[in-house]
Amino acid sequence: MKIEDVFKNNQKWIAEKLAINPKYFEELSKGQAPEFLYIGCSDSRVTAEDIMGVQPGEVFVHRNIANLVNNIDLNVMSVINYAVRHLKVNHVVVCGHYNCGGVKAAMQSVDLGILNPWLRNIRDVYRLHKDELNAIGDENARYNRLVELNVQEQCVNLIKTAAVQQAHQERGLLVHGWVFDVNSGKLIDLKIDFAKILKHIMEIYKLS
Ligand code: CO
Repeated sequence: MKIEDVFKNNQKWIAEKLAINPKYFEELSKGQAPEFLYIGCSDSRVTAEDIMGVQPGEVFVHRNIANLVNNIDLNVMSVINYAVRHLKVNHVVVCGHYNCGGVKAAMQSVDLGILNPWLRNIRDVYRLHKDELNAIGDENARYNRLVELNVQEQCVNLIKTAAVQQAHQERGLLVHGWVFDVNSGKLIDLKIDFAKILKHIMEIYKLS
């Protein structure tokens, strides 16, 4: 696609929106009250709005390589804090995807420079679930499972934050773990058991 096409597409999009509702942008400019915070992979194939079928204003989005919720990443932590405490979203989603280049890269014995500390988080997930993963003979199936376990661990990381713990107590905010299957377009709910994880980790991670 050429750069000029982007601006042509934008004009076309404006016209389409206004044809349905002449006050569309006037209403959009008034503010946002999204119900969801979506944390997903930067992969160009996994666009939050498209796979969820939502419109502008409906989902607050953060994307990074391999959808990580890292405790010392100011970026993701600021997004979580703002979305949960100020926008008051009621659902926080971590969405991974099969064929994730970040997850694959994390399992290779190569020096990837600045990506090493980032991808190390995924190696830690592997170490936590080493027995289960090593028992899977098929390499592709093993990567797919690591994608799922990575989503699960990032959900656990979300539950370790004060903002999420507090919002869960106050208004029943929930954390969800999903995987997008690039091969079929299907969104899979991993059915993360929020209450069970909470109970399991609160002894150590309770902040509020
Ligand atoms: Co990815």
